[in-house]
Amino acid sequence: VLDTVSTVADLRARVDAWRAEGLKVALVPTMGALHEGHLSLVRRAKMLADRVVVSIFVNPTQFGPNEDFSRYPRQLEQDRFKLGMAGTHLVYAPTVDEMYPQGFATKVVVSGVSSGLCGDARPGHFEGVATVVTKLLNQGRPDVAVFGEKDWQQLQVIRRLARDLDLPVRIEGAAVVREMDGLAMSSRNAYLSDAERAIANYLYKTLKRIADDIDAGKDVGHACAWGISELGRLGFGPVDYLEVRDAETLEPVDAVTRPARVLCAVFLGKTRLIDNVAAGVK
Ligand code: PAJ
Repeated sequence: VLDTVSTVADLRARVDAWRAEGLKVALVPTMGALHEGHLSLVRRAKMLADRVVVSIFVNPTQFGPNEDFSRYPRQLEQDRFKLGMAGTHLVYAPTVDEMYPQGFATKVVVSGVSSGLCGDARPGHFEGVATVVTKLLNQGRPDVAVFGEKDWQQLQVIRRLARDLDLPVRIEGAAVVREMDGLAMSSRNAYLSDAERAIANYLYKTLKRIADDIDAGKDVGHACAWGISELGRLGFGPVDYLEVRDAETLEPVDAVTRPARVLCAVFLGKTRLIDNVAAGVK
């Protein structure tokens, strides 16, 4: 059976024992409701380290007041089963009180890469992410931590904070895992109705088309404007953003001379979907 710990002290005892044996440790932070995308991170982690810890914590500080914190899917037993099958060695599932005890007052703010895109659409979101990820990395002290490219901006925020705070951990990015029709796997896809699910795959197809058009020489502004109207025509709701940015710094670009990323957040009914694809020099 897959061991689960819920306190920092227990987590550290387990990790320290592995360290003492000379084993390398990987951490895969998640909010649970696990799917193949998460499990691909576990498999990647297993290739990079001898022991894999998966954290499951629905982090309240990264949700806005009108977001889905309370209805975010929670299914620890199912998650533990899937993680066991994938060869995870330890689950770390702290409580909110363990993570944010009475008097908690510190925030990690990463400027630059956190602004624009999801940073503008979800005020405070990346502060919540940066703070909890810094804590998780300090709690588990892994050699390597694996994050998905699905949340491209989040990955850049985490790379930046690890560098800036001299955290002794290697940050690894893993490719987006998609459903057969191209929809990026997400715990939030469970919110989609059948009708919405039938439309959802066009987000990826539209972003792909934009990237191909830009690579073929189309103007970046025109390509994004086309994409926004195309998503509307396909039945999507409001577009939070659809932009082309430098892949690493996330600065806006109007020509793709370096690796770039086409990034989008769009509503489909009440559900907010995000996705991104590579453009330019790959
Ligand atoms: P969560 O949304 O559960 O995602 C956990 C990790 O899985 C993230 O690194 C995310 O990018 C990755 N992931 C999700 N869907 C994926 C897919 N389809 N393909 C590849 N990777 C995918 O992201 C978070 O949780 C939180 O913000 C967290 C980092 C845990 C901090 O609370």
